[in-house]
Amino acid sequence: MFLRRVPRIVYHFVFVALFIVCLQSLRAQEPGIASTPPMGWNSWNHFHRMIDDKTVRAQADAMVSSGMRDAGYVYINIDDTWEGERDAQGNILTNSKFPDMKALADYVHGKGLKLGIYSSPGAKTCAGYEGSLGHEQQDATTYANWGIDYLKYDLCGLRTEMKKASGPEAEHKIMIGAYVKMRDALRGTGRPIVYSLCQYGVDSVWSWGAEVGGNLWRTTGDISDHYARMEEIGFAQAGLARFAGPGHWNDPDMLEVGNGGMNAEEYRTHMSLWAILAAPLLAGNDLTTMTPETIALLTNREVIAVDQDRLGKQGDRVTEEGPIEIWARPLADGSKAVGVFNRLSTPLSATVDFRQLGFPAPVQVRDIWQAKNLGTMKEPYTVTVLPHGVVFLRVK
Ligand code: GLA
Repeated sequence: MFLRRVPRIVYHFVFVALFIVCLQSLRAQEPGIASTPPMGWNSWNHFHRMIDDKTVRAQADAMVSSGMRDAGYVYINIDDTWEGERDAQGNILTNSKFPDMKALADYVHGKGLKLGIYSSPGAKTCAGYEGSLGHEQQDATTYANWGIDYLKYDLCGLRTEMKKASGPEAEHKIMIGAYVKMRDALRGTGRPIVYSLCQYGVDSVWSWGAEVGGNLWRTTGDISDHYARMEEIGFAQAGLARFAGPGHWNDPDMLEVGNGGMNAEEYRTHMSLWAILAAPLLAGNDLTTMTPETIALLTNREVIAVDQDRLGKQGDRVTEEGPIEIWARPLADGSKAVGVFNRLSTPLSATVDFRQLGFPAPVQVRDIWQAKNLGTMKEPYTVTVLPHGVVFLRVK
């Protein structure tokens, strides 16, 4: 009775108001931040200290012209050595290599990309530049004002403070406190800034990284452009899958693809393993001088689709038979990405038993790097895997 007397316009008004409230609460949850592993580029692996404004702009240009941006790479991350002194008010300044960070951010944003930066919770960064200790809120505000979208926060200098503590528990507390402080500072800016923890995996960071606000956390020491180091890091990620998920990822360090220290097969292993691991894909090469082979490795759509799969479940090792390892990652469409790896420097044959991978019925198999459907299979599949190589399959 009463309802019938309420004019229609009131219903409309209530409906629109409810709709707006729903939209706003959705936005407040920031569902988008690192909902899949971040993709982009970082200056450290190739340029180390030799990075400046001009080089970063050139990388941004090449990210677009190479097709990498359209393949999903969006972050242009400046690593250590951009930092200058602080001004009289304590605000961090850039050094002469970066004359105007805001202008650089505008340039990068103008290309449809995002800009990342680096600091340390300690007084000094790993390369001995100014860190954020005692200036966390001020630095976060400066980054936000510049238009920064990503912060890699590298423990380094804080170790000096930690050493002053009375034992491992107290040291751990100092580290956690420092990461929480920057988390709160970043959140306080109101700007969505991806928060990348870098402390090389100490104290099992995967078990508390998400709690302190990390969108990703390094699980290991530094990678280098050698197969031995890449495999050491990559295959040591077994067992960490359950700690990763949308918004919070294990980070086995940046890519070395295209830097020249590994052959094409080894780089294919690097890309495949990182995709199975739902690892951030941060290219670490010079994007302005890439060969077509490097571009093809970095932009392979099917490999990226595995890495960025929206289910957000990291893969893990299924079997290990000497140098042959089979890893699998469940994907949103019910299929699995399967990597058959040969860690030896001679070719080896390997057999994939689909039942062991959780497929009791016949399966459809696609070879990802060959971009070829292999048809329906019900018997175990035997393949030859090249030295340090991979056969990367999508199985359904
Ligand atoms: C540490 C990090 C590297 C890089 C350097 C910069 O070694 O692990 O990724 O950021 O510092 O100094």
